[in-house]
Amino acid sequence: MKIIPGPASKQLGEKVAKFLGVEAVPLVFKTYPDGESYVRLEGRVQNEEVAIVQTTSPPQDTRLIQLALIADAAKRHGAEKITAVVPYLAYARQDKVFLQGEAISIEAVARMLKVAGVDRLITVNVHQAKVLAKFPFAAKTISAIPLLAEHFKQKGFKKAFALAPDDGALWLAEEAKTVLGDECGCLEKHRDLYTGQITMKKKTLNVYGKTVIIFDDLISTGGTIALAAKIMRELGADKVYAACVHPLLIGDAEKRILESGVEEIVGTDSVPSHVSKVSLAPLISKFLKEHKSG
Ligand code: R5P
Repeated sequence: MKIIPGPASKQLGEKVAKFLGVEAVPLVFKTYPDGESYVRLEGRVQNEEVAIVQTTSPPQDTRLIQLALIADAAKRHGAEKITAVVPYLAYARQDKVFLQGEAISIEAVARMLKVAGVDRLITVNVHQAKVLAKFPFAAKTISAIPLLAEHFKQKGFKKAFALAPDDGALWLAEEAKTVLGDECGCLEKHRDLYTGQITMKKKTLNVYGKTVIIFDDLISTGGTIALAAKIMRELGADKVYAACVHPLLIGDAEKRILESGVEEIVGTDSVPSHVSKVSLAPLISKFLKEHKSG
């Protein structure tokens, strides 16, 4: 196997190659003055199984096109099997027709990748795993929550309360609890489909005097975490932390979260940023090693 680190995940891709002890194929990429992307492989991929590591956090559309171009280049130059390792899978939240007339964006994205040459896709904590079943190739999501929980455990947060912002994310808190060892629970969140405005219901949770870590798949505007943190403080939590797999942190999300009483935000290098304190490299390498493309 060879790894092609895409421009959006260069460091992560190189780390994965190092973990696996395989070659990282160098890539030239540039953006033309009119905004179009250009890629060129600088290594051989003939008869090789390759894994392209490319996250699709903002600017999503550009990064998706880059991924498609790299897949096309690899296939065109003889790669045998192409696995797209896409830590943050853009458009995954538009996974059904919520309002009449909408697209199922994630299915359109998957079809585009298939046409470009992708044979298999691996992502991390995709919003809803069931959407992957509709992809035109094998697709799998792996969870980075145990890695995040382990990070906190190593820092002395054993016995922290693991909280999910809603019941759809409760399994994330349950997964974290298996590492942290105390209790877990969730709040009730509602998002208005037209305005995007979220509201959250206060619930009785045993957090009084405790350290609470809120686990979520992603932080976008920070509204979800800020609301959950506020409720935790109202319920008497001693300290509140936020952990997420994909720290998109759009606009003033970080400020908003810290102002809500969160001590620290911890994310992964799915979306490289200054809060990316946990690397996905061991998780992705292990998966690639144990699950060869069929
Ligand atoms: C939604 O269901 C996700 O799991 C996240 O909770 C949400 O997308 C976070 O978005 P924001 O940071 O804008 O509240």
